[in-house]
Amino acid sequence: MDPRTLKIEAARAALAYVADGMKIGIGTGSTAEEFVRLLAEKVKGGLRVVGVPTSERTAALCRELGVKLTTLDDEPSLDLTVDGADEVDADLTLIKGGGGALLREKIVAAASGAMIVIADGSKVVDTLGRFSLPIEVNRFGLGATRLAVQRAAEKLGVRGQIILRGGENPFVTDGGHFILDASFGRIPDARALSAALHAIPGVVEHGLFIGLAKRAVIAFSDGVRQMTPARN
Ligand code: A5P
Repeated sequence: MDPRTLKIEAARAALAYVADGMKIGIGTGSTAEEFVRLLAEKVKGGLRVVGVPTSERTAALCRELGVKLTTLDDEPSLDLTVDGADEVDADLTLIKGGGGALLREKIVAAASGAMIVIADGSKVVDTLGRFSLPIEVNRFGLGATRLAVQRAAEKLGVRGQIILRGGENPFVTDGGHFILDASFGRIPDARALSAALHAIPGVVEHGLFIGLAKRAVIAFSDGVRQMTPARN
């Protein structure tokens, strides 16, 4: 089965959790976009939902397809968020932010009663870290923040290249920040790394999502499997 079909299958299965009248957080990325397309079909068929998009890109697609939008200012508490991920482990700890929307994604997920991750089977890992960890940072003091990230990671025995996304033409997030992509290879203790990164003043947010996802809907070529956290 090709990757797009798997993404569509995961998105379709997650639609079963969306009920009439819900306020939902709507993720970012290619899998979340398939979810938006399927959700829009349901909306055309009469489903009433209102969504908070996790990026300008998702907001534009929702507007184009007729999915009604709101904000966390008007609706500070959401029923459910459906979003993709770059990596998912057995505890449903995630790496997110490959699409650069990690800050809004985390704010929206944290404001939701539940977060459901949709992904194809390639995203499931034993240990997080094969995918670079995106770290959203303030533009001011970039060099110092990068060094602080490197030192904090090294104290935890985590090492790897830390590069500015976009290089000479840095990628700018919807919040106006830069992203450092940290190729750590292996993150044995996500909670410890999360705490260490949050203690660095220039770090706005990082792409480790811990304890937020309550369910993952994962599409493999032989069918869709549902995962709930092994420990969290
Ligand atoms: C966006 O910032 C990310 O967190 C995405 O959710 C993640 O990169 C998954 O994207 P794909 O569904 O395109 O793989």
